[in-house]
Amino acid sequence: MARNRPIPLVIDCDPGTDDAVALLLAAASPELDLVAVTAAGGNVGLDHTLRNALALMRLAGHSTPVYSGADRPLLGRYQGVQWVHGEDGMGGVGLPPGGPPAPGHAADALRALLRTAPAPVTLVGIAPVTNLGLALATEPALADKIAEIVLMTGAWGEGNATPAAEFNALSDPEALQILLGLGRPITIAGLELTAQALVTPARIAALRTLGGGACLQAACDVLASVPHAKRLGGEGSALHDPCAVAWLIAPHLFTARPCFVEVDCGPGPNRGRTVIDRWDRLGRPHNARVLETLDADGFFALLGQRLARLP
Ligand code: BDR
Ligand code: CA
Repeated sequence: MARNRPIPLVIDCDPGTDDAVALLLAAASPELDLVAVTAAGGNVGLDHTLRNALALMRLAGHSTPVYSGADRPLLGRYQGVQWVHGEDGMGGVGLPPGGPPAPGHAADALRALLRTAPAPVTLVGIAPVTNLGLALATEPALADKIAEIVLMTGAWGEGNATPAAEFNALSDPEALQILLGLGRPITIAGLELTAQALVTPARIAALRTLGGGACLQAACDVLASVPHAKRLGGEGSALHDPCAVAWLIAPHLFTARPCFVEVDCGPGPNRGRTVIDRWDRLGRPHNARVLETLDADGFFALLGQRLARLP
C-alpha cells in the first residue's frame, strides 16, 4: 500500500562505516522524515561517532539535529571494533566537519520527542541500543508513541563479535532486552540477512560510476576501507546497517518471519546471543519480525539511486 506521508524516523547509530551509508540512505529517501539522529559509543568511541554523525548530516545537506548519547553500555565496559572501522570510525576517510550537536542527552531528547510527536515515530537502532533502552526504561509509557522499532542486531546462528553474539547485541544486551519486552512491533535485520548485502569491490566500482557527488564518493571510499570478512569467504564485507533503513523504504526487497526473540544477558560465553525461535519450538508469543532474505541486486540498485541524489 502506498504511503502518502514520509515516516517520521529517529536513527540511533555509532558511525561506523556501514552506519554512515545508512544515514546517507535515510537522508536521500523521500519516504522517510529523519527527525533526529542519536549517537552512541559503539564501533568507535562516542567522541568519534558523534563527530561522524554530524559530519555526515552536513555532507548530506541536512539540518537534522544530532544528539550525543551513551558512551558505554548500561552494564559492563565499552569495547570498540576499530580494526573494522578505523580509529576514526570512517576508515580514515577525512570528512569535512559538521555543525555542533543539539543540546541535551540523546535519551532525554528521545523522550521529549516521543512525548510531543504528533504521530507515532519509528526508531531505527543500528548500534548498541543504550540510548533507546535508557529512554524507554525511564518512561515506558512512551512505547505507545513508537510506530515500529527496526534493529540491526543479533543472528539466529553464529555471531561476529564472539562465537555466540553479534556486535550490537553483545555491546548492550540489557538495553536490547528492554526493547524486546516493550510489546511494540520490532523488525530485526540480523547477520544472516545482512550477509546477503555483500559489498564487493565490483559493487563499489559500480556505485562509483553513478555520479560525482561528495556523498556518493565518500560512501564508496568508506566502504572500500572495510576489511573483507573471513566469515563471509573473504570476498567482501556485509553492509549491515543500511538493511534496516532499506526495510522501511522498500520492504518488497525482503522476506520476513514473525518469531519469539530474546537475548542472553548472562555473564558467560553466550552473553549477547540472540535466541531467535524461527520454528516456534519454544511456543512463546512472537515479539519480533525477523528479516530472512534480501534481493541484493535490488538493494544495491536502490542504494546507488538514492546516494546519487545527494550533494
Ligand atoms: C553491527 O556492528 C557494527 O560493527 C556495525 O556498524 C553494525 O551495526 C554489525 O554487527
Ligand atoms: Ca552500527
